Amino acid sequence: MEKLLIEGGAPLKGRVKISGAKNAVLPIIAATLLGEEKESVLEEVPGLCDVKTISEIIESVGAKVRYNAENETLTVDATNLIATEAPTDLVRKMRASFLIIGPLLTRYGKAKISLPGGCAIGTRPIDLHLKGFEALGAKIEIGHGFISVTAPNGLVGNRIYLDFPSVGATENILMAAATAKGETYLENPAEEPEIVDLANFLNVMGAKIRGAGTNLIKITGVERLRGENYTIIPDRIEAGTYMLAAAMTKGDVFIENAIREHLKPVIAKLKDAGASLEESINGIRVYASGDLKSVDIKTMPYPGFPTDMQAQFMAMLAISKGKGQVIETVFENRFMHVEELRRMGANITVNERCAEVVGVEKLKASRVKATDLRAGAAMVLAALVADGVTEITALHHIDRGYHNLVEKLISLGAKIKRIEE
Ligand code: EPU
Repeated sequence: MEKLLIEGGAPLKGRVKISGAKNAVLPIIAATLLGEEKESVLEEVPGLCDVKTISEIIESVGAKVRYNAENETLTVDATNLIATEAPTDLVRKMRASFLIIGPLLTRYGKAKISLPGGCAIGTRPIDLHLKGFEALGAKIEIGHGFISVTAPNGLVGNRIYLDFPSVGATENILMAAATAKGETYLENPAEEPEIVDLANFLNVMGAKIRGAGTNLIKITGVERLRGENYTIIPDRIEAGTYMLAAAMTKGDVFIENAIREHLKPVIAKLKDAGASLEESINGIRVYASGDLKSVDIKTMPYPGFPTDMQAQFMAMLAISKGKGQVIETVFENRFMHVEELRRMGANITVNERCAEVVGVEKLKASRVKATDLRAGAAMVLAALVADGVTEITALHHIDRGYHNLVEKLISLGAKIKRIEE
């Protein structure tokens, strides 16, 4: 088993380039299944474990996938698919595997997969995805751990209201409705930049989607879509994580590719905490010299404060002056990092979905686990400022979402290495 060893105390300085967004590229890779003519060529595809998993999933239904790690390009030929069912072992690895249902259903009238897996951050039901498929005319059967969705006569556009702006449900419905007959109106959809990126890719493929990024999306079904070339947006959560690393270590880092528009709540909270930020067209410079002040955060769907930055902010609050409150409203069990941060000396009390963090002078190095992807990022941040050498295990979680983490941190002056236990 591998682990990270991080010696805290080095201020991070320099420039770091943000990779393509994990949560944009996963649905976009699923959407390549809609390319009936031509292959799709995706650029800025990060070499992440989740990208490998979804690639294997689409390969299992017949897509031909090539990844060029050097120029981070993924080529998908989905012109001839052979199956509408994905193997259980792959699907169980990652919740985003459910995103192949939308494209397969609209293209072939059926799809079947086992109940999806993913990080253990909550029960994460899929009722909203299913409600969307049903509204488009599909029939759902659930049994023996499998979900089968069929629409032998094709899908037909409809008006769909989402009770909660689920990211995955919005994506699945966009893909399914793209080639349904007639018009679909999706009310209260997710408005995340990753939704806009998926809609842009689908439109390049020939779809007619208007309003992505707002609270009403109109999809006019088209006959068919073709494979196309597309460049993935930069990862706002990776960017936010490095922004915190710069501020917490009292460093000075230019985060190349960070898009200000996508990071408004993170920028606002970092400024409130006392960090200095300079925003430019190519990225964001973050620097800090004095102690950071505590802030309160409450996670919300976009454009609110992202749940995917909650754990990292908690690591920052652990060493900030004063008391900060963290309220998690998106997932019901996303505080697993609290226990690990406590091992490092953090003073955190949890009451249901609310955590109170009283900043301490110094965190101390310890042996900790990455309990999920963003919890892992929080442990890395805590380790960067702790006294001594912290050991972090369960790195497979971190590998799901941070491309070249060790290399990037070393280039900024962090004392970090990855070793075999
Ligand atoms: N939900 C339902 N019913 C549904 C779907 C979702 O109740 O049918 C609930 C979930 O249980 C959860 C909440 O709605 O409590 C949010 O779920 P959502 O569907 O919006 O999230 P997701 O599509 O499963 C994506 C990201 C997550 C990110 C969330 C929220 C991908 C591949 N994953 O998940 O990313 O936290 O949106 O922004 O896009 C991460 O990157 O660390 C990560 C977990």
